[in-house]
Amino acid sequence: MQARGPLMVEHRLIERMSDLIKSALGQIESERKVDPVFVDTAVDFIRTYADRTHHGKEEDILFRDLDGKDLSADDRRLMDELIEDHAFGRSTTKALVDANNRYRGGDASALADIAEKLRTLVDFYPKHIEKEDKAFFPASRAYFTDEEEQAMLAEFREFDRRMIHAKYRAVVESLGG
Ligand SMILES: [Fe+2]
Ligand SMILES: [Fe+2]
Repeated sequence: MQARGPLMVEHRLIERMSDLIKSALGQIESERKVDPVFVDTAVDFIRTYADRTHHGKEEDILFRDLDGKDLSADDRRLMDELIEDHAFGRSTTKALVDANNRYRGGDASALADIAEKLRTLVDFYPKHIEKEDKAFFPASRAYFTDEEEQAMLAEFREFDRRMIHAKYRAVVESLGG
């Protein structure tokens, strides 16, 4: 298997979550209300899975190794753009959390902000994924030997193994434990 294999499998789950958020957006528009617990769940998915687990492997392993290669100008530009996309996803999610907190506190104007941030995220993720699946991942393959691909896969597995422990350590700490 190539290193992009598990990343592309993860893309499919992110797309499934995006579809759920799209359905929720339809409901927000028709009913003029939102379930803040659904927003919490979507935020947890985006932060823990899409960002820390998925973008984490991209940035900390794949992009790190690519950075040491003699990348073409186009490939380097695209890698920088992907890193900016990840940062954009993070700041949009932060704004979504803020809007959800305001909504819980009774601020009616927060509903439009929640809808706007969710819409931004579901518009953004599929485009970002397409850049990786169709352009960046196929181009990156040319820079690695089979051994390097296998080493990245091994590092991915270790990265994932640690994630569940980091996630629940953070839960306990957030509760003051
Ligand atoms: Fe990415
Ligand atoms: Fe990705």
